Amino acid sequence: MVGAGQVAEVVAAMPGTEFLARRNGSADILAPPDSADGLVAFLKDKSIPYKVLVDDLQEAIRTENPLPAVEESEVWENRGGHRMSWRRYHRYKDIESYIDYLAHTYKEICETVIIGTSTEGRPLKVLKVSSGGPKKPAIWIDGGLHGREWISPATVTYILLQLVEFREKHPHLLENLDWYILPVSNPDGYEYSHVHDRLWRKTRSIPVGTKKRRPYPALGHRGPSRPHRFRSQCVGVDPNRNWDFKWMKIGGSSNPCDDNFAGHKPFSEPETRAMADFITMHKEQIALFLSLHSYSQMWLLPWGWTETEKPDDYYDMYVLAEKGVNALKAVRGTDYLLGTSAELIYASSGASDDWAKGVARIKYAYTIELPDTGMHGFILPASQIESTGQETWEGVRALAQYFAEGYN
Ligand code: ARG
Ligand code: ZN
Repeated sequence: MVGAGQVAEVVAAMPGTEFLARRNGSADILAPPDSADGLVAFLKDKSIPYKVLVDDLQEAIRTENPLPAVEESEVWENRGGHRMSWRRYHRYKDIESYIDYLAHTYKEICETVIIGTSTEGRPLKVLKVSSGGPKKPAIWIDGGLHGREWISPATVTYILLQLVEFREKHPHLLENLDWYILPVSNPDGYEYSHVHDRLWRKTRSIPVGTKKRRPYPALGHRGPSRPHRFRSQCVGVDPNRNWDFKWMKIGGSSNPCDDNFAGHKPFSEPETRAMADFITMHKEQIALFLSLHSYSQMWLLPWGWTETEKPDDYYDMYVLAEKGVNALKAVRGTDYLLGTSAELIYASSGASDDWAKGVARIKYAYTIELPDTGMHGFILPASQIESTGQETWEGVRALAQYFAEGYN
């Protein structure tokens, strides 16, 4: 963690280092083992104050997601066939099994809608939760747009758990509202972060130009695997720079090898395309748009694409977000910063919240950056899933309450 003003200088001077996040005037930088000493020397030399948050990231990754003994021994069949829990981070198939389980078990109120397919062919599953009757104000919630932000799908499924399985605690939230919930919007990136690279952020699409060179030559006689041309290409697009609103204006990259590569055109990714199409179809109905990310503990408001402009109704958006932040804090004191992403982190365009506000014209569009503030960063220990779920649910519930009561 270093001063935010100097982050660009530090990352440029120290090859191999990566910028991770920014909060309250400081920035988090990741350094590979062989440049860690160099980085420290550089910071000391420049008198840049710093603090080591995670000493050994590999070790943090090794211990973040243990298999709890109870889950090893549990008889899964007794749980309706799903393997979901909030004691550990689950693979995509377990999350899918939970969505399907809810749809089977609560047929009267739950329905799975496959809104599209990821690059690698995974279905994008929205759970529609509705008690029927005439159209009501709807709430959209998505998670897992960035692969490595594991707490996000875990929290979104926790919201499903509360909303559906504990519905008798808050019947009005189902009587007066419809819900569209997409727990994992970038399943390819999510799976890749489980299997190959814990810090993978992007989708897994192959850059244009490469596609045309497929299909691969026959395997076997020449070598073991895919052609090197494919191998050497950088894969994936930052799905939160890829939306068709102020695309590539600021904070996105045109280099496919960058983590914030915006894609060769807006909505180049099947995942963002599918989400936008679905939201557009329901935009008259959707009163609230929430996208859950991590980390930083911030409740972000549009605009993200400019530091100098605010939406006309910014005050309304702010007042409602404040209800969420206060309800969340009441659970265990977790502090969220509230403001535009341009003022709190950095300006970046092509993100989903700005599109929801600017194009779909959903009045209340927010990005929530879940815990923590950098102590663990993306590698938030699984033991914190439940408490994060609880407090976030309270925040979401406070907003839902407002819409369920008819905008009092
Ligand atoms: N951390 C998120 C990202 O970089 C924040 C996006 C917030 N919204 C925005 N319009 N910049 O994708
Ligand atoms: Zn994110």
